[in-house]
Amino acid sequence: MADNEIKKGLAGVIADETAVSKVNPETNSLLYRGYPVQELAATQPFEAVAYLLWHGELPSAAELAQLRATEREHRALAPEVKDAIDRLPLDSHPMDEVRTAVSVIGAIETAGISNVLDAVGTPEENLRRSLQLFAALPAIVSYGQRRRRGLEAVESRDDLDYAANFLWLTFGEEPGAVVVDAFNRSMILYAEHSFNASTFTARVITSTLSDLYSAVVGAIGALKGPLHGGANEAVMHIFDEIGSADQVEGWLDTALAEKRKIMGFGHRVYKRGDSRVPTMKAALDSLVAHYDRPDVAKLYETLESEFVSRKGIYPNLDYPSGPAYNLIGYDTLTFTPLFVASRITGWTAHILEQQASNALIRPLSAYNGPDERHIEEYEPDT
Ligand code: ACO
Repeated sequence: MADNEIKKGLAGVIADETAVSKVNPETNSLLYRGYPVQELAATQPFEAVAYLLWHGELPSAAELAQLRATEREHRALAPEVKDAIDRLPLDSHPMDEVRTAVSVIGAIETAGISNVLDAVGTPEENLRRSLQLFAALPAIVSYGQRRRRGLEAVESRDDLDYAANFLWLTFGEEPGAVVVDAFNRSMILYAEHSFNASTFTARVITSTLSDLYSAVVGAIGALKGPLHGGANEAVMHIFDEIGSADQVEGWLDTALAEKRKIMGFGHRVYKRGDSRVPTMKAALDSLVAHYDRPDVAKLYETLESEFVSRKGIYPNLDYPSGPAYNLIGYDTLTFTPLFVASRITGWTAHILEQQASNALIRPLSAYNGPDERHIEEYEPDT
């Protein structure tokens, strides 16, 4: 690349090395620390994948038990966090609630650090903070949905592991095994994806030696956008708009004539299909069978085949996960916060990696504004 070549959107730019995950669009594969994501989703609890992302290896039985014990200790919705959420308007976007909650946790956790040079913390502190955020997010996300429905928060259940407890916190009912399994898979599939926009945002903030919470708050802001995490919410709006499979053709004619982007399709890196889609589609199929909703599968498949045959653009992970979360009972507005609860693992693994081998991230720009001019030429009255 010529030194002065502009790479709009940083497309194709290799900004640094990472050992956290490998995305290979040629082979349509995604590896977390070397393991194919579909193998992890088929065999592991999300807690083990979190451990893998942070430590580089899957946990032993004792290490998993230790992580689960610590996760249970930090599940509760802290009163300060609940209070901060309660002060927000009921119709504030749940991503804003989650962003605010993490900010409050960060302000409390880093209270007393008066020298900015100490803000970054030690690797041990940051690993502990990562695990605590991972443990705290299910109660925050669940409370957001319950609050909008006029329901009180429910207490965590120590007899339930992460995924089942998350569903319990949201719905106050013990979830069935099919639902827990589909939800666990979605958490694993969303956990990590190299230098996507939100992870890169977290790394940029970390590179200034700011603290982990600031990096996560920034990442949440980046994830909210519909070109990134907000797409799973946008997919459900599209499903609602279309209504049923027999409306797909006409709807798509109009949408494409209006040059609309069809959310849940396309990817900056994968041009021949997102490696995570088949696993999440299988999870969606299990939910379709569980809830006896063949109409959902029909709409999904009709829109996919119509759009792919017309545009040659394939679904991304948000396409199957949107309707899956809807079947489980999540409000459309809660979908992107669920992505946060999962991606906190990947973000924090990258924050730890950036801290271990830091260089300030500061690209250049090509100036295209006015030529140099001087203030004496400025005439405010004209
Ligand atoms: N619907 C319609 N057209 C599309 C779509 C889509 N979903 N995706 C790409 N295209 C078209 C663009 O209009 C463009 O056409 P043009 O060359 O005629 O102008 C061409 O394909 C290239 O698209 P870009 O947006 O330039 O490609 P880029 O690599 O920048 O975009 C992106 C990737 C942002 C994900 C895009 O495909 C998109 O907007 N998709 C919809 C949003 C979405 O689903 N985001 C989720 C991303 S994955 C995740 O976060 C888990």
